[in-house]
Amino acid sequence: MAFIEGKKKEIRLLFVCLGNICRSPAAEGIMATVVDKYGLQDTIKVDSAGTSAWHEGELPDERMRSHGERRGYIFNSRARKFKRSDFDDFDYIIVMDRQNLSNVRSLATSKEQTDKVHMMTEFSRQYSLHDHIPDPYYGGASGFELVLDLLEDACEGLLQTIKKEYSL
Ligand code: 4NP
Repeated sequence: MAFIEGKKKEIRLLFVCLGNICRSPAAEGIMATVVDKYGLQDTIKVDSAGTSAWHEGELPDERMRSHGERRGYIFNSRARKFKRSDFDDFDYIIVMDRQNLSNVRSLATSKEQTDKVHMMTEFSRQYSLHDHIPDPYYGGASGFELVLDLLEDACEGLLQTIKKEYSL
């Protein structure tokens, strides 16, 4: 638990992509692993959503699940659509590309909500030349591997950012 102005607080992260079956469930699963590695599982909570409802209720894409499994991750969240109340329920809303960014921002109703929205690549460290997480859905295996490389790097960067911001 983090203490903000003397009060106990959970830090809640929501990862968002288009379908919520490839990039954002992978980000959720990788971040959960990083959070565990630092022993922060009681403080930092993770979830994911899509800007579309196309795959509502589905498990992550089979290709993303098997590429993840080869690196030791289990991606088993169920797809859901991003909703306005997510702005109240999460501290960081982290999107994968510019289309997600504009879709999510268009639902914000205050500066406070807009300020919660970040691009995942803001947190990249080694892969700092990439300005978005590319959609792997219509591509081949190398696209899924690249997504995992970028997400592993950015999740570590995100964890460091949160540690600093909340003095964890
Ligand atoms: P995601 O990938 O946004 O990373 O989950 C996609 C998944 C499904 C589709 C597009 C992108 N689709 O067109 O159904």
